[in-house]
Amino acid sequence: MSLIQLNRLLRHIEQLGTIGQMPDGGVSRLSFTDAEHEANQFVQMLMQQAGMETSIDPIGNIIGTYCKDRSISHEAPIIMGSHIDTVPNGGKYDGALGVLTAIEVIQTFHENDITLARPIQVIAFKDEEGVRFGVGMLGSRAVAGTLTAPMLEAVDAQGITVAQAMEKQHLQPANIHLAKIDSIYAYLELHIEQGRVLETENLPVGVVTGIAGPLWLEVTIHGLAEHAGATPMQLRQDALAGAAEMMVAIERIANGIDGTVATVGKIVVENAGVNVIPGQVTFTCDLRHVIQESRDLAEHEIKKAICTIATKRHLYSCVKELQRVKPVTTDAAIMQTIHQAMEKCGYDAFYLSSGAGHDAMQFAHHCPIGMIFVRSKDGVSHNPLEYSSPADIKAGAQVLFETILAL
Ligand code: GLV
Ligand code: MN
Ligand code: MN
Repeated sequence: MSLIQLNRLLRHIEQLGTIGQMPDGGVSRLSFTDAEHEANQFVQMLMQQAGMETSIDPIGNIIGTYCKDRSISHEAPIIMGSHIDTVPNGGKYDGALGVLTAIEVIQTFHENDITLARPIQVIAFKDEEGVRFGVGMLGSRAVAGTLTAPMLEAVDAQGITVAQAMEKQHLQPANIHLAKIDSIYAYLELHIEQGRVLETENLPVGVVTGIAGPLWLEVTIHGLAEHAGATPMQLRQDALAGAAEMMVAIERIANGIDGTVATVGKIVVENAGVNVIPGQVTFTCDLRHVIQESRDLAEHEIKKAICTIATKRHLYSCVKELQRVKPVTTDAAIMQTIHQAMEKCGYDAFYLSSGAGHDAMQFAHHCPIGMIFVRSKDGVSHNPLEYSSPADIKAGAQVLFETILAL
């Protein structure tokens, strides 16, 4: 019999999903915004109800600590984490499910007077998505000690830096080093799969083996803004036509290296006008692979193609690196623990890798990490239609509960 209270967990998912809700049902909670702040307050209140002591660290992570037995408070904690920021018009489950399920697991320990051998912390990490500043996992980087000073100087579309956004929320950029947690026994993250593998296998949950590393580039193409009517085709230096050819090349290169995914998700045409030949264009490229060497190869091919196309079209190209995260593997012993927890709960233990990035990545070289995936309907994510069924959420929560007990 499960001790997890599924209805309470589902209610919390719906409640959190109303914060930052868009007219079509999507959720927009970009980092350091009012919606994100309200979500943080809601989650902090849930942590307290679940028997945790809460705190906010210098970057703005919400931390709940569950340690009933004071004599073990010095032991290295197990951390269960994920994020509650979203992409623009995203879904209710990406990140939120991991945080809320972790809180439900703790509440279950609390209500059933379950004594644990070490403190457990739940962390709702700041800005995992990276949409606003072009660099993600800010909160988990701070806790794992991988946040660098230049990351605090990254700017959003309005020219506001991470440090300035932090100050607006009364956080302390100068104290960021204090967010690091030196000794962590294990890091666990439950997340929606955001892909179609579990659905294809007809399974509710899976054990994550590794996570593809995102490399984010920002490509700026300089051409010449000229009159659209008066400039003959062969004399143009059209930055947008050049960028278009580069995008097709990026797609072709990704198609040619098995397992590679590459996405141009954002494009800005400077001083755009219907009768103006585009003089400057900036676009992003998100490139991922679970194998480092394959991503390196794709990166090399993409940069070469950008140069070749720019030269041919008399354009000037500049590639800036926004973030580079190495692919990681999860810990073999924790995978085994999750495997056994799945079997104990009556589910097949199926292994799969993650195409999406997760806060867990930041801890891969700091402590043993493990991840549990919950089936996503139609594999859809970063979309208001994102959905995981109550039965699958229950399966994930039971497995997380048993995994923590076993650890
Ligand atoms: C986060 O969702 C990412 O993988 O970009
Ligand atoms: Mn996520
Ligand atoms: Mn996401």
